[in-house]
Amino acid sequence: MEGEFIVKKAKMIIDKAYKIAEIDERVYGSFIEHLGRAVYGGLYEPGHPEADEQGFRKDVIDLVQQLNVPIVRYPGGNMVSAYNWEDGIGPKEDRPKRLELAWRVIETNEVGTNEFVDWAKKAGSEVMMAINLGTRGIDAARNIIEYTNHPSGTYWSDLRVKHGYKEPHKIKTWCLGNEMDGPWQVGQKTAYEYGRLASEAGKAMRLVDPDIELVSCGSSNTDMPTFPDWEAETLTHTYDVVDYISLHQYFGNRDDDSQNFIANGMELERFISTVTSVADYIKAKKRSKKTLMLSFDEWNVWYHSNDADKEIEPWTVAPPQLEDHYNFEDALLVGSILITFLKHADRVKMACMAQLVNVIAPIMTENMGAAWKQTIYYPYMHASVYGRGVSLKAIVDSPKFDTKDYTDVEYLDTAVVYNEEEEELTVFALNRHIEDDLHVTINVSGFEDYEIKEHIVLEHDDLKAVNTATHESVTPHRNGNAVLQDGFIEAKLSKASWHVVRLRASKTTN
Ligand code: AHR
Repeated sequence: MEGEFIVKKAKMIIDKAYKIAEIDERVYGSFIEHLGRAVYGGLYEPGHPEADEQGFRKDVIDLVQQLNVPIVRYPGGNMVSAYNWEDGIGPKEDRPKRLELAWRVIETNEVGTNEFVDWAKKAGSEVMMAINLGTRGIDAARNIIEYTNHPSGTYWSDLRVKHGYKEPHKIKTWCLGNEMDGPWQVGQKTAYEYGRLASEAGKAMRLVDPDIELVSCGSSNTDMPTFPDWEAETLTHTYDVVDYISLHQYFGNRDDDSQNFIANGMELERFISTVTSVADYIKAKKRSKKTLMLSFDEWNVWYHSNDADKEIEPWTVAPPQLEDHYNFEDALLVGSILITFLKHADRVKMACMAQLVNVIAPIMTENMGAAWKQTIYYPYMHASVYGRGVSLKAIVDSPKFDTKDYTDVEYLDTAVVYNEEEEELTVFALNRHIEDDLHVTINVSGFEDYEIKEHIVLEHDDLKAVNTATHESVTPHRNGNAVLQDGFIEAKLSKASWHVVRLRASKTTN
């Protein structure tokens, strides 16, 4: 009937028995590249009032610790494809300044492998190391792993000891190059060239340290003309030597269509399912017993800074590159991306929000000034802190809508995490519709004696609202309206809003 107001309603059922998989905590990873002010002015700023004895900013470390980031990819990104890792070790005064070709800046090499490992320890993270398969190859690959992971008694391991690091760093996860399909990459390769090189470099690295895990480089994004042939051809060569294939994807709301933008999780679903299918096809072809896992080691929103970056003078040190200022709708999409990873916890074992500080990042700093949280910090923190345990498959019945690029987008985007040890159940939920509120009923009758611990909400009446160093406009509150009665949760999710409903067994005391 014309003018009639219809409340949109969704239902879902959660049960302990519907398990997808144990969540690998590395799905809450992030990324630091030598790019812009990520390292210099971000992590590292000797002379800053918050700098520690190594020059690392303690205010930044504190914000990273609150995010509880289990793994950080380093040192690139595009930068790694022309990087000489040897430039970043040894006495700082002897380290060369170089032209850094990917981002056309001056790299001072004040921070290198050892310093980054120290920083990661302080932040509570492991390192995911990327090697240069653009300008270099097998020899540099076997040398860096001998330097970082071999105990001592050889040229490179003894050099590490001489540099003050008696114990090996034991870096476990290694990326075999970065976006090697991209024409922008220094040393771009065909799929055949990359597949052969990566497989031989990986083989040599495993001979040095058999305990490592290796990531084969997938397509740079779904728009690449070689996607997904790249995956099929490269994995034909690397399948037996690697454990993961990488996926990268960035989103932007360039034509200002917020409804379409917030629905971009649909594209991610397609991407994950395509790469999974190709990996399983190669598995079948090889009669392999091994199932390849996915490392979504670059993902985020990235577009706000594109014009500003064109104005940046080349060959300067740490210019403000890729400094996206995120708004509320970006935070919603970030929440949806994290939900998507949890729904695929059986295959997506690692993921890195790109990046962590200043460069397309949840954490921003002012040179010699404050460190502050962007809008996207919050869904990332919620997922990382509360999303540990088993991912459960929720049965969802939601109304749907269409957008420019997607059909049948569910209003309710949701993932559920059960932490058996802590006796906690967490529902992450997004109302993806930008005009309609959504009433949700959740059957949790299998969780007898559970009660709602808190209902966290990120909402705002302006999709374009941003945070700044002096004002946090987009910040979560804990006054959500979820109620639990007779085994059913009832909640109203206001239009375009992010929710974390946390339940715990009522006998739990805190
Ligand atoms: O994260 C920024 C850049 O995006 C990375 O250097 C590259 O790998 C990707 O294209």
